[in-house]
Amino acid sequence: MFNDEPIELSDEIFKLLKDLIYKSSGVWFDENSKDILRMRLTNSVQRHQFKSFKDYYYFLRYDREKDAELASLLDIVTNHETYFFREMPQLKAFSEEILPEIIDIKKKEGSKDIKIWSAGCSTGEEAYTIAMLFLESKMFNNVNIEVFATDISHRVLHSARKGFYQKHSFRTTDSEMIAKYFIQEENGCKISDKVKEKVNFGYFNLLDSDKSAFINRMDVIFCRNVIIYFDMPAKKKVIEMFYEKLSNLGFLLLGHSESLINISTAFTLRHFKNDMVYQKIVK
Ligand SMILES: C[S@@+](CC[C@H](N)C(=O)[O-])C[C@H]1O[C@@H](n2cnc3c(N)ncnc32)[C@H](O)[C@@H]1O
Repeated sequence: MFNDEPIELSDEIFKLLKDLIYKSSGVWFDENSKDILRMRLTNSVQRHQFKSFKDYYYFLRYDREKDAELASLLDIVTNHETYFFREMPQLKAFSEEILPEIIDIKKKEGSKDIKIWSAGCSTGEEAYTIAMLFLESKMFNNVNIEVFATDISHRVLHSARKGFYQKHSFRTTDSEMIAKYFIQEENGCKISDKVKEKVNFGYFNLLDSDKSAFINRMDVIFCRNVIIYFDMPAKKKVIEMFYEKLSNLGFLLLGHSESLINISTAFTLRHFKNDMVYQKIVK
């Protein structure tokens, strides 16, 4: 049983904890978020039967199990909110305007494979949405699509691979799409194989520049509602890596409240009918 007594978080340990979170994930807690962090991490401190956040911090730094505990901590302190068909105007721009442009480029190159990255995919709704939009576009006779979906949380990746979803994931999904691409099960729905086979999930920390060498060149990168939690240097680092990873004329799709203002001038802002999106145009 956990003790109800609040556990004190000193300013010193708060700073050490928030720096550790920042260095490990790019997620930035400002000076005013001490109470939020204390509340979110109290269960973890109690689970290990530590009496103080200081003991917990030392455990995170020096214990043999530190990597697993840090992964669990990042899972707790990051936001995983997501749902199918999120931000529909942008998705319409993707399927009705961006996809046809990319298919034209592929035709000229004599290639058939379109590579799309869902960076910070959470439980997989965004990646599966991209695959469903592609199937709906009826363009699959000419080209093939591969969606590579990554996240820093092993827990959400496990759930994404299972592909089982409940009501809150379908808040903006037409019943027609559910009938077409999901299998009804008790208490929820499972994504169908024809969608699932287009998506591969993997662990990747967006700040781990060494490992980005293993990522292929992409035609479209979706990174929506992820860098919003990063501070400026982390945002810049990730956007630079995306520029590097995109093929020429590739597209970067950010969340609707995110932009590259003060982050990067490398991209061109394209005004489509349905939305504005960033494109890499090498002159
Ligand atoms: C709010 S969700 C966004 C999900 C989806 N992109 C959407 O817009 O619906 C943010 C996701 O980014 C992930 N994330 C946070 N920091 C990350 C990092 N440094 N590397 C990779 N993923 C990260 C979180 O684990 C979380 O699942």
